[in-house]
Amino acid sequence: MKICHTIDEMRAARHAARREGKTVGLVPTMGALHEGHLSLVRMARAQCDLVVVSIFINPLQFGPHEDLAKYPRNFDRDRDLLEREGVEVIFAPTVEEMYPAGAITYVTVEALSDKLCGRSRPGHFRGVTTVVSKLFHVVEPDQAFFGQKDAAQSAIIRRMVRDLNIPVQVVIGPIVRGPDGLAMSSRNAYLNASQRLSAVVLHRSLLALQERFDRGERKVQALIEAGKQVFAEDPSVRLDYFEIVDPETLDPVDRLSHSALVAVAAFVGKARLIDNVVLTVNT
Ligand code: PAJ
Repeated sequence: MKICHTIDEMRAARHAARREGKTVGLVPTMGALHEGHLSLVRMARAQCDLVVVSIFINPLQFGPHEDLAKYPRNFDRDRDLLEREGVEVIFAPTVEEMYPAGAITYVTVEALSDKLCGRSRPGHFRGVTTVVSKLFHVVEPDQAFFGQKDAAQSAIIRRMVRDLNIPVQVVIGPIVRGPDGLAMSSRNAYLNASQRLSAVVLHRSLLALQERFDRGERKVQALIEAGKQVFAEDPSVRLDYFEIVDPETLDPVDRLSHSALVAVAAFVGKARLIDNVVLTVNT
């Protein structure tokens, strides 16, 4: 397995793959890898000749009072996990390598970037789309793999790729959960034992909503209330948002038609967690 710390090294590895006629799959991550990340690596492994995993904690997507300094970092463990998955290349640049001094160019997907997490985390999605477009330029992947766990992020990246004609196929992998239903996240490392129990409220709220939906409820407000009620049972969890939106525009819907994204974000202790489910409406 090759570890590239510079853009030049990464480009050389990419161009060698092109000369050999190999297809390249990219899985962008911020490290602290778990089964959610590894599920994307396995999808890439199954579909591409050469798999590149980027590990880069992107300062641009963290707000001034967020967890950039204490975000979990464990490169040696990540490297071992990726080695075992048969990954060919890790791209792990420094901040200085990715953002040359004085960089003032950003990529923003207007409007979508202010929805859901973008509303609570101003500038977050601009940071994500800027770094992901840079990764696309450096790695030039044929396919890039993202998780449904970050549904808004995935929708915004798809839109960026479409709007900027970036020649990459975006593949979205399903949410990987722990045995208790909690969606896997690097930020789960912030939870102590009792917070971990509380954190399952996010998943339970979505299950409650899904159940009402499966029994025929189609009124958006009634569905949201069914989900929110579950949060009332655990006052230690602070709800950030609970919304039903169009999966592409991320705009709240007031009537359900074909498919809808139910997205939730909440604080459990200092950890901000997110989860979602897609409702498919047979009209
Ligand atoms: P990170 O949080 O490390 O996640 C990397 C990828 O793993 C994302 O596409 C995310 O949606 C996916 N992922 C995380 N948890 C998952 C789960 N439980 N099931 C399935 N997929 C999961 O998301 C980022 O990093 C960054 O914003 C990044 C795209 C790398 C840009 O900096």
